[in-house]
Order: sequence, then C-alpha cells, then structure tokens
Amino acid sequence: MLARTQDLLLEAQRQQKAIAAINAFNMETVQAAVHAAELSERPVIIALGERYLPTTRIEGFAAMVRAIAETASVPVSLHLDHAYEKSSIEQAIRCGFSSVMYDGSRYELEQNIAQTRAIVELAHAFDVAVEAEIGSVARGAHSDEEEGDGRLTSPADAKRFVAETGVDSLAAAIGTVHGMYTGTPNINLELLATLRDSLQVPLVLHGGSGTPEAIIAQTVLSGICKVNVNTEISLAAVDRLRRDAEPGSPQLHLSVITSGLEEAMIPVISKFIRLLGSPADALVVNP
Ligand code: 13P
Repeated sequence: MLARTQDLLLEAQRQQKAIAAINAFNMETVQAAVHAAELSERPVIIALGERYLPTTRIEGFAAMVRAIAETASVPVSLHLDHAYEKSSIEQAIRCGFSSVMYDGSRYELEQNIAQTRAIVELAHAFDVAVEAEIGSVARGAHSDEEEGDGRLTSPADAKRFVAETGVDSLAAAIGTVHGMYTGTPNINLELLATLRDSLQVPLVLHGGSGTPEAIIAQTVLSGICKVNVNTEISLAAVDRLRRDAEPGSPQLHLSVITSGLEEAMIPVISKFIRLLGSPADALVVNP
C-alpha cells in the first residue's frame, strides 16, 4: 500500500527530521529511491514532475510505484511535483497520488492565492494533500526545472497565503536553487526560522542538489520536513552512462547499462535520506 505523504511529513515535523522527495520518472529511478530508503530504513517520497508527463504514462507509473511500495520494507508515497496545470492534478488524483504540488509561484500573490485555493478545494475533496510555493526558487546549472526569479518568501505573504488557501505544506524560497549552484550557496536560515515560527504547516525545501550537507542539516533543524532532489541524482547516472559507453569500451547490453544507472544513483539518494533522517549528526564536527 502507498503511504500518505502528509502522514510522513507530519511525523517528520514531530521528530525534527525530513523526508527525501526523489524526482523519479522511470522504473530505475523508483527502484534506486526505494532501495536507498530501505538501506537507511527511512520513508521516501517518489515525486513525478509534471514536466515528465508527456513521456510517462502516469497510470502505469502509479501502478508500478504502488506495486513496488507493496513489497518495500519502508513507507513509500507518491507525489506530483511542480504542476502548473489543473488537468495534471486531476490525472494524479485519479491515479491515487496522495499529494500534489501546485506551483503558482510565477503569479502575483492574489492570483497565486486564488488559483491555489481552487486546487486545494479540488484535491481535498479526494483526500489529497497540496503543497504550494510562494516566492520563487531560481535555476542553477543542469536543472530540468523552469527558470525562477529567486524571490525569497516573505513571511507576511506566507502567513496570509497559508491561511487563505488551506495548503497542507509550503515550499519556502530561502536561497536554494534548482540544479547545481554556480557560486557559493547563500541560504537564509534566519528567514526559514521566522517562517517556521509563524506557520504550522510542514515546510519544503526545493533544490536539494549541491546544497552543502551542513546547510541541509541546519534547514531540517530549522523546520524543513521535505527536501526535493533531482539534478544530483541525474548527474551521477549520466556520468556512469558516459563511462559505460566510452569509445573503445565493450558494447554493453541495455539491461547492464540500466542496472549500472541504478547502482550509480543509490549512493547519492542514500546520502540525502541518511542526512535528512539524522540531521544533528551532520553538524557534529569530527576532530
Ligand atoms: P534539484 O534539482 O536542485 O535537486 O531540485 C529538485 C527540486 O526541487 C524538484 O522540485
């Protein structure tokens, strides 16, 4: 059975831990995520981005994740990431996703509130939780996400946004980027603590890739309950692909290539899952 994302987030919030939301779009990414979660004995969220829907049969994807979740030794939930279209959210609800992200961050506050509220009404009628974004996460290197303008979340706007939309969790823009950083990360932990103190809903960190471990640990101890990871996993898999397909190397069967990709993704995913499951450990400086 699939776990409910909101249950995982509320439990993480109680424990001052966070759940990794791994961007997945095929069986290898799902298997790698679940394998890594089992190694760390931690729950995991499988996050399918709306941008992958044109190349993914969502019914088949959901059935596959459900089947894998049924045999997994840890809770696995299924989430729709960065949806801009109501039709994608309707599809996800029909397929049994327990949470969706509606991304209205490109709109002005009033319009973002109005559109997000309509999505919340729709989703809650089916007991599906909604994550939304206010402020905007910028795009760094190698990301597959849309360009954001890097506007940090205003605490006053966030308070109003949560109260008027009824969202279940909130993506806070505190300086992380989608993709790899091109300079030194500048993450506003004070802003995060202010948001945590004035909001009750679990907070979500987008742009996990490339963020120094100590900073991620601090964000979790300051209120982040879910961290999204995509690019760093993709980079590890593509590096492996390049090595396996180097000129002069023996021609490998596709099945060997795809299991190699999975093997390359597991350590990266494990790093995030372990870090989010015991953030205080990452802050201990070894002598
Ligand atoms: P990264 O690609 O930086 O890991 O960000 C992923 C993300 O936030 C997806 O919503």
